[in-house]
Amino acid sequence: MGIKDLRVKGGRLRATIEELARIGGTAGGGMHRLTLTEEDRQARDRFVHWLRELGLEITIDEMGNIFGKRQGRNPQRAMVLSGSHLDTQPKGGRFDGILGVTGALEALRTIHENRIETERTIAIVNWTDEEGTRFAPAMLGSGVWAGHFDRDWAYSRADVSGIRFGEALEKIGYRGKAPARKWPVHAYYEYHIEQGPVLEKVGKRIGVPRGILGITWSDAYVEGEANQAGPTPMNARRDALVAAAEMIIRVNELPAEMGGDLVATVGEIQNSPNSRNIIPDRVRFTVDIRSWDDSFRNRATEAIKKEFIQISQKRGCPVKMETIWEISHTEFDSNLVGRVEKTASQLGHSNYSMVSGAGHDAAYVCRVAPTAMIFVPSIGGRSHVEVETTRWEDCEAGANVLLHCLLQSANE
Ligand code: GLV
Ligand code: MN
Ligand code: MN
Repeated sequence: MGIKDLRVKGGRLRATIEELARIGGTAGGGMHRLTLTEEDRQARDRFVHWLRELGLEITIDEMGNIFGKRQGRNPQRAMVLSGSHLDTQPKGGRFDGILGVTGALEALRTIHENRIETERTIAIVNWTDEEGTRFAPAMLGSGVWAGHFDRDWAYSRADVSGIRFGEALEKIGYRGKAPARKWPVHAYYEYHIEQGPVLEKVGKRIGVPRGILGITWSDAYVEGEANQAGPTPMNARRDALVAAAEMIIRVNELPAEMGGDLVATVGEIQNSPNSRNIIPDRVRFTVDIRSWDDSFRNRATEAIKKEFIQISQKRGCPVKMETIWEISHTEFDSNLVGRVEKTASQLGHSNYSMVSGAGHDAAYVCRVAPTAMIFVPSIGGRSHVEVETTRWEDCEAGANVLLHCLLQSANE
């Protein structure tokens, strides 16, 4: 059997995904495995166990990123890297991130059991805190590794209960010793579910993203005056929640007004004191704005800020809006993108050039190493939800594309 005939074992990939789905699995069939929690620790332990089974050299860095390396004939040459993340959204899905880690693991298992030697070392990675739900911003692990964020700043990020990233990392025992610092990478491939409706709509099996939309994350803080819900007349109120509600509606309306590919979302809100018979005096909510066009995205963020100020003045509720994270759009390496496309075709899979609306660790890795991604369809275009799913045949097909991209990059 020639190297071209090598194929992953779809059943084994499925069993691996299903095993991970039991760690933090929800009654609704999804996943609740927020970064650096006990569930995350258990999933990491499982991953490390699988890396050990393959005899890989394991490195855990000071951000908790976990790497498993399989030596090539020429270990001094830049290595080939692939992976994604094992953390999930609250009530998220079984595939987001997990397919990229288990797909890379399955590719390495296939290479290993067929005793294939490669020129370059191949490594797989589980990046810490891709989702940014518990500790914002997203992609903290890959962002520090790529030199975009400072490690101590990342350690200082706090969750809603005030626990810091550094403490949580220490607590689950995954603060490694290796510096979280980039090293030469010849090619990075991230395999992922599409998380949107495009592939299903065009009826293609493999998505070949050219890049990723730029993202701005902001936090808005609205202040009002708390008072009794009964005796306080309607015209004597400064209701922070009502002001926030009007702001949130404007966030939702803005993309239709500005046009283009703009999307804008308010997904998280805290209301204080959060009692049915107290007029709220403090509200915090998040704003997520995305577009391929960075200046357009910046204009949209500015427009939202202006609108918030107008609403705040009208309602006597001061507002503060802080942009906590921004990443410009990402353009993947054209050679690697071409390779993904060609490999998919050679394996007989229909494919489609597209853009990723979701953020990925590939966005930071792409800033320091040639990078590409491989997508497979999300049924019904649903993701970040418990019903998120992808056909097992598609999972297998994408893993084969990954396998052959890895082999080509590792042998050149
Ligand atoms: C990551 O999951 C994102 O797109 O927000
Ligand atoms: Mn993901
Ligand atoms: Mn996600």
